[in-house]
Amino acid sequence: DKGMIVKNMSFKVGQTLTLVGTTKPDATYFVVNIGPDEKEITMHMNPRFDAHGDQKTVVCNSYQGGSWCEEQRITSFPFQLGGEFTINITFNPAEFLVVLPDGSSFTFPNRMGLEKYSFINVDGDARISSIQIQ
Ligand code: GAL
Repeated sequence: DKGMIVKNMSFKVGQTLTLVGTTKPDATYFVVNIGPDEKEITMHMNPRFDAHGDQKTVVCNSYQGGSWCEEQRITSFPFQLGGEFTINITFNPAEFLVVLPDGSSFTFPNRMGLEKYSFINVDGDARISSIQIQ
């Protein structure tokens, strides 16, 4: 099971990607990956309820050339077990801006510097009810 995969997306600089979903009541983590293809991830966002030794932490990273790069940890964790969430993501050639369900936000570098990404994957203990780019 690789969760939800969109391979032919056109997510461009200036557009907003909105994901609405629900976490499982016993969720340990879920993942949102954005990249140019299924092998490279420019933006890996991994809310961890209790996974990889982290509790209630959002870990972000990129996966380039076959390895994980430098992690960034977000202090705010506005997700609930079995709860609905909305995540808004926008980007420019320098960085991604992510708005979390409580309205708090963080940036993460656009390490590939691209202006369009085609691939998104949502995996782990969450189900997506709506995906929108506008
Ligand atoms: C690893 C984990 C990966 C990814 C990565 C982010 O520990 O196995 O799934 O989350 O951290 O740096």
